[in-house]
Amino acid sequence: MAVLEVNSSNTKNEASGLTTVKQNRGGLEGVVAATTALSKVEGAAGRLIYRGYSVRDLAHTTTFEEIAHLLWFGHLPNRAELSDLKARLAAERTLPEVALAALRILPPETAPMDALRTAISAWGACAIQNKPTLEQAIALTARFPLILAAFYRLRIGLDPLDARPELGNAANYLYLMHGRMPAEEFVRALDSYMVMLSDHGMNASTFTARVVASTESDMASAIVAAIGALKGPLHGGAPSKVLDMLRAIGTIEQSEEWLRDTITGGGRLMGFGHRIYKTTDPRSEELKELARLANSHDLALAKHVEERALALLDELKPGHEIHTNVEFYSSVVLDAVGLPGDFFTPTFAASRIIGWTAHVLEQSANNRLIRPNSDYIGPLQAHFVPIDERSN
Ligand code: ACO
Repeated sequence: MAVLEVNSSNTKNEASGLTTVKQNRGGLEGVVAATTALSKVEGAAGRLIYRGYSVRDLAHTTTFEEIAHLLWFGHLPNRAELSDLKARLAAERTLPEVALAALRILPPETAPMDALRTAISAWGACAIQNKPTLEQAIALTARFPLILAAFYRLRIGLDPLDARPELGNAANYLYLMHGRMPAEEFVRALDSYMVMLSDHGMNASTFTARVVASTESDMASAIVAAIGALKGPLHGGAPSKVLDMLRAIGTIEQSEEWLRDTITGGGRLMGFGHRIYKTTDPRSEELKELARLANSHDLALAKHVEERALALLDELKPGHEIHTNVEFYSSVVLDAVGLPGDFFTPTFAASRIIGWTAHVLEQSANNRLIRPNSDYIGPLQAHFVPIDERSN
């Protein structure tokens, strides 16, 4: 594989290998790892596009199913195409027996992301072995909410419910969790959230999925690996920690001291900062709008914490351009629509699944093994000593 050394951090990748920067700060910063027609993150401009469309426009005007069609098929669907895709998703909204069995043996205190990863792995072992296909992408997307809702209900001693064929993805998810028809404004808010979280360039979990796909492994393995990458707090694990942070702060009066102490103590404020965005994440502005669904205390506290956090990060971390990221208001919105805190990251996964699967399909269609280099910094000529002669 060709590994190019360049001076710029934004060089177009011609081969399907990796392009590296000299003087990198680790973390593959500035590395172009793939060619994609799916989404583009414009970090300086604060813009995110899916196949040419601004996500800020799509968030108001489309549904999750339309974005699935856009990412998988390459264009926004007409009415007939949309109803065909909805029917295919509805047909897959059944909980695989093996996934349910796996959920049943997990202790109730299992983190829902771990439960999701385990259920997908168990189901994948039995059902998803071949070259990645669109049918697998549809089945995975349809079943993520079922698996999550089933685990939620099992852990509180309730039986999982059957999906309702007349409901779409977001409405089914809320219905399957709580066993009652969700309010329309909650469905719409969750749908907008899922549209906005569907894809995001070469983020850590998508990269992970593409690396696995590039070895010609199967779709389930790529998605299980992506779930593992997403759950870390530096990636998708942040939103429940935002909620924890807001609860720990508690009141507007205590926020200044809490935030200052955290930053000066070397801690990170959850929901702030991003590798690519050096301005406000466009999704965070839309989510701030949706956060009006929250109760007035929670919303006022979140807005105040955001304002003070930005001012303090500017003062105490000058030059780093740390802005509000997608996770800050995600936590307020997901809390407002009635999802438990430890289901925030799994809900992110249930949105990103269409991006992950689209990337796996894109990688598989034009594959070259992703295999970067490393800079070895250890000794080159160590003297070998037999085990019985070693003193330490
Ligand atoms: N709070 C306090 N300081 C921060 C924060 C933050 N949220 N983010 C970055 N910094 C500081 C770092 O401490 C560092 O300062 P230093 O040079 O004085 O040590 C400097 O900014 C640069 O930080 P890096 O870690 O090099 O920046 P990187 O691009 O690797 O970090 C990241 C991006 C991981 C998202 C970071 O901003 C962070 O940890 N944020 C908090 C967690 C979070 O919100 N994660 C969700 C990200 S969005 C997503 O993945 C969907």
